[in-house]
Amino acid sequence: MSETFWPADNPAGTATLPSPLAQKQPIADWDEDSLVLGIETSCDETSAAVVKGGREILSNVIVSQGELHGEYGGIVPEIAARSHVEALTPAIGEALMRADATFWDLDAVAATLGPGLIGALLVGVAEAKAISAALEIPFVGVNHLEAHIYSSLLADPAADFPALCLIISGGHTILAHAFGHGSYEILGSTIDDAAGEAFDKVARFLGLEYPGGPEIDRLSLIGNPDAVAFPRAMINEPGFDVSYSGLKTAVINYVRRLEAKGEPVVVEDIAASFQKAAVDVQVAKTLAAVDLVGAERVFLCGGVAANSGLRGGLGEACEAKGVKLFVPPLELCTDNAAMVAACATAMLRRGVYHSLDVSPDPNLPLV
Ligand code: KG4
Ligand code: ZN
Repeated sequence: MSETFWPADNPAGTATLPSPLAQKQPIADWDEDSLVLGIETSCDETSAAVVKGGREILSNVIVSQGELHGEYGGIVPEIAARSHVEALTPAIGEALMRADATFWDLDAVAATLGPGLIGALLVGVAEAKAISAALEIPFVGVNHLEAHIYSSLLADPAADFPALCLIISGGHTILAHAFGHGSYEILGSTIDDAAGEAFDKVARFLGLEYPGGPEIDRLSLIGNPDAVAFPRAMINEPGFDVSYSGLKTAVINYVRRLEAKGEPVVVEDIAASFQKAAVDVQVAKTLAAVDLVGAERVFLCGGVAANSGLRGGLGEACEAKGVKLFVPPLELCTDNAAMVAACATAMLRRGVYHSLDVSPDPNLPLV
C-alpha cells in the first residue's frame, strides 16, 4: 500500500522551501562586518571558511583528498563524496574556531552549487542548507567558476572589476571578461581537455604522482624547456579558444618514439618542454584578449594558476604591456571555501540568494 505525504495540491517535488532570510535581516542591513560561512566540496578538496565583509579571510580550512585518489591516478567520484561526508563537519568546526566565531555569529551560509561532481556537490549543499534552516540565515548557492574569480579580489585589496579573467583548472580553461560583480562574457575556452587535465594526464603517462600538475611544474624547474619543440596548438588562429589534446598526444608519441629507438627518456626535459608549450599558448591568447577588450587588469585564477611557468610568463607579458596581473597565493589558487564565501557576499549585496529547494548542477556554466 502506498502512502502520500504531500497534499494533492502540492505534489512531491514542487513544494518550495523559502530562504530563512525572510525571517532574518533585510538585505539592506548587509554590512562590512557580515560573516559568511563558505563551503566547497565540488571536487577533491573539502573546505570551510569564514569571510568578513566579503574581503577579509578569518579562516580557510582546506582538507585535501589527494592521497586517497593517488593510487587510482585520478579522482574517484564515490570516494570523493564519501570523504567529504567525513571531513566537512570537522572542517566547519575548525573554520569557526579559527575565526573565533560560533554558528550564531554567522549572517549567511554559502556552498558551491556547481560545476563539479554531483555526489561531492550534494554533500556541501545539503550541509549548508541544514545550517541555513537551523540558524534561519540565507543560503547562497555559488558558481565554482565565478568563485575562482573572487580569489583574486580576496588576495589583493587593489583588485577590482572590470578585469580579464583566466580561469584555468583541472576541469576548466576559460578566458572571460568580467565587467562587474555577476557580469561576465566568455571570450574563449578549451575545445577539448582543460589545462590541468592535460598536465595531470601527461604526468600520469610519464609515471609521476597524482595530481600531476605540481609534479610537472617541479620537474620543469630542472628540465630544459627548449629540449623538445612540442606544438603550440591554435596559437596563430583568430579567437581565444585553446586546445590541449594535441599537445598531450604529441608528448605521448614523442616518448613512444624514443622508447622504440631505445633512446633515453629525460622526464624533466619533456616536462619542461610540455609546460613551456602550454604556457606559451595561454600567454599569447590572454595578451590578445587584453588588446581586444583594452583590459587594465588580469586575474589569473584556478588550480593551474599555481604553475610557476604561467605565473612568470604571464607576469612578464603583462608587465611589458603595463597591465596589472593579480595572482592569488597558492592556497587561494586551488579549490577553497574562502572564495565561495567572498562570491556569496557579493551576491547577497545584490540581493541574490536561494530558496532551500535549489539543487546542485554538475554542469553549471559561468554565464
Ligand atoms: O582549481 P582546482 O583545485 O580544481 C578544479 O576546479 O579543477 O585545480 C586543480 C588542477 C589539477 O589539475 C592540478 O594538477 C592543477 O590544478 N595544478 C597545477 C599546479 N598546481 C595545481 N597545474 C600546473 N602546475 C601547478 N603548479
Ligand atoms: Zn576549481
